[in-house]
Amino acid sequence: MRGLSGRAALRGLMCRTRASVASLLARSSSGGPSWTLERTLVAVKPDGVQRRLVGDVIQRFERRGFKLVGMKMLQAPESILAEHYHDLQKKPFYPALISYMSSGPVVAMVWEGPNVVCTSRAMIGHTNSAEAAPGTIRGDFSIHISRNVIHASDSVEGAQREIQLWFQSSELVDWADEGHHSSIYPA
Ligand code: PPS
Repeated sequence: MRGLSGRAALRGLMCRTRASVASLLARSSSGGPSWTLERTLVAVKPDGVQRRLVGDVIQRFERRGFKLVGMKMLQAPESILAEHYHDLQKKPFYPALISYMSSGPVVAMVWEGPNVVCTSRAMIGHTNSAEAAPGTIRGDFSIHISRNVIHASDSVEGAQREIQLWFQSSELVDWADEGHHSSIYPA
Protein backbone atom coordinates (compact mmCIF):
# COMPACT_ATOMS: atom_id res chain seq x y z
CA MET A 1 0.00 0.00 0.00
CA ARG A 2 1.21 3.47 -0.81
CA GLY A 3 2.32 5.24 2.37
CA LEU A 4 1.81 8.93 2.87
CA SER A 5 3.57 11.06 5.40
CA GLY A 6 4.46 14.67 6.10
CA ARG A 7 3.48 17.10 3.37
CA ALA A 8 1.82 14.46 1.18
CA ALA A 9 -0.40 13.39 4.07
CA LEU A 10 -1.35 16.99 4.75
CA ARG A 11 -2.12 17.59 1.06
CA GLY A 12 -4.62 14.75 1.16
CA LEU A 13 -6.65 16.61 3.76
CA MET A 14 -6.00 20.12 2.60
CA CYS A 15 -8.30 22.60 1.01
CA ARG A 16 -6.85 25.89 -0.12
CA THR A 17 -9.07 28.65 1.18
CA ARG A 18 -7.95 31.83 -0.57
CA ALA A 19 -10.88 32.97 -2.71
CA SER A 20 -10.69 35.57 -5.44
CA VAL A 21 -13.40 38.21 -5.38
CA ALA A 22 -14.73 36.98 -8.70
CA SER A 23 -15.26 33.50 -7.31
CA LEU A 24 -17.62 34.54 -4.56
CA LEU A 25 -21.29 34.23 -5.36
CA ALA A 26 -22.45 36.08 -2.24
CA ARG A 27 -21.33 37.10 1.22
CA SER A 28 -23.37 37.35 4.40
CA SER A 29 -24.25 40.92 5.29
CA SER A 30 -25.85 40.57 8.70
CA GLY A 31 -22.78 41.26 10.82
CA GLY A 32 -23.08 37.71 12.14
CA PRO A 33 -20.60 34.97 11.33
CA SER A 34 -19.00 35.69 7.98
CA TRP A 35 -19.42 33.13 5.20
CA THR A 36 -19.15 33.06 1.46
CA LEU A 37 -21.38 31.26 -0.96
CA GLU A 38 -19.26 29.02 -3.15
CA ARG A 39 -19.67 26.27 -5.73
CA THR A 40 -17.61 23.13 -6.03
CA LEU A 41 -17.28 20.17 -8.36
CA VAL A 42 -17.94 16.75 -6.86
CA ALA A 43 -17.64 13.63 -8.99
CA VAL A 44 -18.56 10.09 -8.04
CA LYS A 45 -15.85 8.06 -9.72
CA PRO A 46 -16.48 4.83 -11.72
CA ASP A 47 -16.01 2.58 -8.68
CA GLY A 48 -18.57 4.62 -6.74
CA VAL A 49 -21.08 4.37 -9.59
CA GLN A 50 -20.50 0.61 -9.95
CA ARG A 51 -21.05 0.16 -6.22
CA ARG A 52 -24.36 2.13 -6.26
CA LEU A 53 -23.00 4.84 -3.96
CA VAL A 54 -24.37 7.82 -5.94
CA GLY A 55 -27.53 8.07 -3.82
CA ASP A 56 -25.59 7.99 -0.57
CA VAL A 57 -23.27 10.75 -1.76
CA ILE A 58 -26.18 12.95 -2.83
CA GLN A 59 -27.97 12.32 0.45
CA ARG A 60 -24.94 13.35 2.50
CA PHE A 61 -24.55 16.64 0.64
CA GLU A 62 -28.29 17.39 0.76
CA ARG A 63 -28.57 16.60 4.45
CA ARG A 64 -25.58 18.80 5.21
CA GLY A 65 -27.61 21.65 3.67
CA PHE A 66 -25.87 22.12 0.33
CA LYS A 67 -27.77 22.85 -2.84
CA LEU A 68 -27.40 20.79 -6.02
CA VAL A 69 -27.18 23.11 -9.01
CA GLY A 70 -25.86 20.72 -11.68
CA MET A 71 -25.58 16.99 -12.22
CA LYS A 72 -24.88 14.61 -15.09
CA MET A 73 -23.68 11.08 -15.72
CA LEU A 74 -21.09 10.71 -18.42
CA GLN A 75 -18.36 8.50 -19.75
CA ALA A 76 -15.60 11.04 -19.20
CA PRO A 77 -13.80 11.87 -22.46
CA GLU A 78 -10.02 11.55 -22.31
CA SER A 79 -9.72 15.25 -23.20
CA ILE A 80 -11.55 16.25 -20.00
CA LEU A 81 -9.58 13.80 -17.87
CA ALA A 82 -6.27 14.97 -19.32
CA GLU A 83 -7.14 18.58 -18.51
CA HIS A 84 -8.60 17.75 -15.11
CA TYR A 85 -5.50 15.81 -14.03
CA HIS A 86 -3.04 17.98 -15.97
CA ASP A 87 -0.85 18.62 -12.89
CA LEU A 88 -0.39 14.89 -12.32
CA GLN A 89 0.88 13.97 -15.79
CA LYS A 90 4.38 13.16 -14.54
CA LYS A 91 3.22 11.07 -11.58
CA PRO A 92 3.89 7.32 -11.86
CA PHE A 93 0.22 6.57 -11.15
CA TYR A 94 -1.09 8.88 -13.92
CA PRO A 95 -1.74 6.17 -16.57
CA ALA A 96 -3.54 4.00 -14.00
CA LEU A 97 -5.57 6.99 -12.82
CA ILE A 98 -6.73 7.85 -16.36
CA SER A 99 -7.52 4.20 -17.07
CA TYR A 100 -9.54 3.92 -13.84
CA MET A 101 -11.42 7.16 -14.51
CA SER A 102 -12.21 5.89 -18.04
CA SER A 103 -13.36 2.47 -16.87
CA GLY A 104 -17.02 3.44 -16.54
CA PRO A 105 -19.33 6.41 -16.12
CA VAL A 106 -18.84 9.11 -13.53
CA VAL A 107 -21.55 11.28 -11.98
CA ALA A 108 -20.42 14.89 -11.94
CA MET A 109 -22.20 17.38 -9.71
CA VAL A 110 -21.98 21.03 -8.78
CA TRP A 111 -22.89 21.83 -5.19
CA GLU A 112 -23.44 25.30 -3.81
CA GLY A 113 -23.34 26.68 -0.28
CA PRO A 114 -21.30 28.56 2.31
CA ASN A 115 -17.71 27.28 2.35
CA VAL A 116 -18.74 24.26 0.30
CA VAL A 117 -15.21 23.78 -1.07
CA CYS A 118 -13.56 23.15 2.30
CA THR A 119 -16.55 21.40 3.82
CA SER A 120 -16.86 18.95 0.94
CA ARG A 121 -13.16 18.07 1.26
CA ALA A 122 -13.78 17.28 4.92
CA MET A 123 -16.87 15.24 4.03
CA ILE A 124 -15.07 13.09 1.45
CA GLY A 125 -12.06 12.46 3.70
CA HIS A 126 -8.35 11.94 3.09
CA THR A 127 -7.23 11.22 -0.49
CA ASN A 128 -5.54 8.06 0.74
CA SER A 129 -8.50 5.95 1.81
CA ALA A 130 -6.37 4.11 4.36
CA GLU A 131 -6.01 7.40 6.24
CA ALA A 132 -9.60 8.58 5.78
CA ALA A 133 -11.53 8.94 9.02
CA PRO A 134 -14.65 6.84 9.62
CA GLY A 135 -17.72 8.94 8.89
CA THR A 136 -16.16 10.46 5.78
CA ILE A 137 -17.21 9.11 2.39
CA ARG A 138 -13.82 7.55 1.69
CA GLY A 139 -13.48 6.42 5.31
CA ASP A 140 -16.79 4.59 5.06
CA PHE A 141 -16.58 3.15 1.54
CA SER A 142 -12.99 2.84 0.38
CA ILE A 143 -9.77 1.16 1.46
CA HIS A 144 -7.31 2.04 -1.33
CA ILE A 145 -6.23 5.36 -2.86
CA SER A 146 -6.60 3.99 -6.39
CA ARG A 147 -10.33 3.30 -5.80
CA ASN A 148 -11.28 6.24 -3.61
CA VAL A 149 -14.89 6.64 -4.83
CA ILE A 150 -15.14 10.40 -5.12
CA HIS A 151 -13.46 13.64 -6.17
CA ALA A 152 -14.03 17.13 -4.80
CA SER A 153 -12.26 20.34 -5.81
CA ASP A 154 -9.48 21.40 -3.42
CA SER A 155 -9.74 25.19 -3.73
CA VAL A 156 -12.20 27.86 -4.82
CA GLU A 157 -10.07 28.65 -7.86
CA GLY A 158 -9.75 24.93 -8.69
CA ALA A 159 -13.51 24.53 -8.35
CA GLN A 160 -14.16 27.34 -10.82
CA ARG A 161 -11.76 25.78 -13.31
CA GLU A 162 -13.19 22.27 -12.87
CA ILE A 163 -16.83 23.38 -13.08
CA GLN A 164 -16.08 25.15 -16.38
CA LEU A 165 -14.30 22.06 -17.64
CA TRP A 166 -17.08 19.59 -16.82
CA PHE A 167 -20.19 21.75 -17.31
CA GLN A 168 -21.58 24.23 -19.83
CA SER A 169 -23.03 27.25 -18.01
CA SER A 170 -26.44 26.30 -19.47
CA GLU A 171 -26.26 23.01 -17.55
CA LEU A 172 -26.21 24.79 -14.17
CA VAL A 173 -29.56 25.72 -12.65
CA ASP A 174 -30.04 28.74 -10.38
CA TRP A 175 -33.18 27.50 -8.68
CA ALA A 176 -34.97 29.34 -5.87
CA ASP A 177 -34.25 27.88 -2.45
CA GLU A 178 -37.75 28.51 -1.12
CA GLY A 179 -38.52 27.49 2.41
CA HIS A 180 -35.18 26.00 3.37
CA HIS A 181 -32.90 28.98 3.00
CA SER A 182 -33.42 30.63 6.37
CA SER A 183 -33.20 27.36 8.29
CA ILE A 184 -29.85 26.48 6.72
CA TYR A 185 -28.02 29.79 6.27
CA PRO A 186 -27.73 32.82 8.53
CA ALA A 187 -29.45 35.96 7.22
S1 PPS B 1 -0.04 14.01 -5.26
O1 PPS B 1 0.84 12.89 -5.63
O2 PPS B 1 0.10 14.36 -3.85
O3 PPS B 1 0.07 15.17 -6.16
O4 PPS B 1 -1.47 13.44 -5.52
P1 PPS B 1 -2.71 13.58 -4.57
O5 PPS B 1 -3.01 15.02 -4.28
O6 PPS B 1 -2.54 12.68 -3.40
O7 PPS B 1 -3.82 12.99 -5.51
C1 PPS B 1 -4.20 13.66 -6.67
C2 PPS B 1 -5.19 12.79 -7.41
O8 PPS B 1 -4.57 11.58 -7.82
C3 PPS B 1 -5.27 10.47 -7.30
N1 PPS B 1 -4.28 9.46 -6.94
C4 PPS B 1 -4.25 8.21 -7.41
N2 PPS B 1 -5.03 7.59 -8.27
C5 PPS B 1 -4.73 6.30 -8.57
N3 PPS B 1 -3.70 5.64 -8.02
C6 PPS B 1 -2.88 6.22 -7.15
N4 PPS B 1 -1.86 5.55 -6.64
C7 PPS B 1 -3.13 7.58 -6.81
N5 PPS B 1 -2.54 8.48 -5.99
C8 PPS B 1 -3.26 9.63 -6.09
C9 PPS B 1 -6.02 10.98 -6.11
O9 PPS B 1 -7.17 10.21 -5.85
C10 PPS B 1 -6.37 12.38 -6.57
O10 PPS B 1 -7.50 12.33 -7.43
P2 PPS B 1 -8.84 13.09 -7.09
O11 PPS B 1 -9.72 12.88 -8.27
O12 PPS B 1 -8.48 14.52 -6.86
O13 PPS B 1 -9.37 12.42 -5.86
